[in-house]
Amino acid sequence: MELRSSIYSLLFFFLLSLTNLSNALKNTHKIPQRPRKPCKSMVYYFHDVLYNGKNAKNATSAIVGAPAWANTTIAAGQSHFGDVVVFDDPITLTNDFYSTPVGRAQGFYLYDRKDVFTSWLGFSFVFNSTEHKGSLNFAGADPLMNKTRDISVVGGTGDFFMARGVATLMTDAFEGDVYFRLRTEINLYECW
Ligand SMILES: *[C@@H]1O[C@H](CO)[C@@H](O)[C@H](O)[C@H]1NC(C)=O
Ligand SMILES: *[C@@H]1O[C@H](CO)[C@@H](O)[C@H](O)[C@H]1NC(C)=O
Ligand SMILES: *[C@@H]1O[C@H](CO)[C@@H](O)[C@H](O)[C@H]1NC(C)=O
Ligand SMILES: *[C@@H]1O[C@H](CO)[C@@H](O)[C@H](O)[C@H]1NC(C)=O
Repeated sequence: MELRSSIYSLLFFFLLSLTNLSNALKNTHKIPQRPRKPCKSMVYYFHDVLYNGKNAKNATSAIVGAPAWANTTIAAGQSHFGDVVVFDDPITLTNDFYSTPVGRAQGFYLYDRKDVFTSWLGFSFVFNSTEHKGSLNFAGADPLMNKTRDISVVGGTGDFFMARGVATLMTDAFEGDVYFRLRTEINLYECW
């Protein structure tokens, strides 16, 4: 009687470990499905007025580095390749340049392709409004000829403590090499 019950229990544990093993094998092929729904969505516009040799007073950005064959007054040929631009642009809720800013977009972009306009962005949204205090930090490649481009929201501070997500950029308007306006749709997937 005693022997029989211990054989049964051995068999039971053997079967149990088999099912565990097969589950474990199954799980290695399963990617955990997390809901891809943003915890916060926001839309802002920011306005960039590039220095062109004549508009020092109202320029919000300037070429600070250029290839040896170019200069920092006029954007370089070949898709501005090699130009590095520093900016401090107003952020607004609508596409109206003259509406009250809710903060500043501060950072730089550089042009990193000769055959097509492509830049790389590294900047922060520094919020200073009654609604938001704090910052969001952005980084990523911007193939700016594409209608929409996604860059990463790599972190945040203040109201956006530890935030992460994706920002979809769209060129909302541009005037030659002097002015452009970017519509920025921010979708955060990590909020605290
Ligand atoms: C910048 O200033 C110039 C002249 O000082 C003016 O004509 C132009 O409209 C201004 N640009 C913007 C975007 O305010
Ligand atoms: C900068 O480069 C542009 C275009 O090549 C040229 O027209 C301009 O004279 C240059 N400016 C300076 C200050 O070197
Ligand atoms: C934020 O806004 C307030 C009120 O407009 C202003 O006094 C303050 O200087 C601003 N701070 C920054 C860092 O821009
Ligand atoms: C940008 O657009 C080009 C041409 O339509 C496409 O081949 C490319 O994949 C796009 N790049 C991104 C990052 O979406």
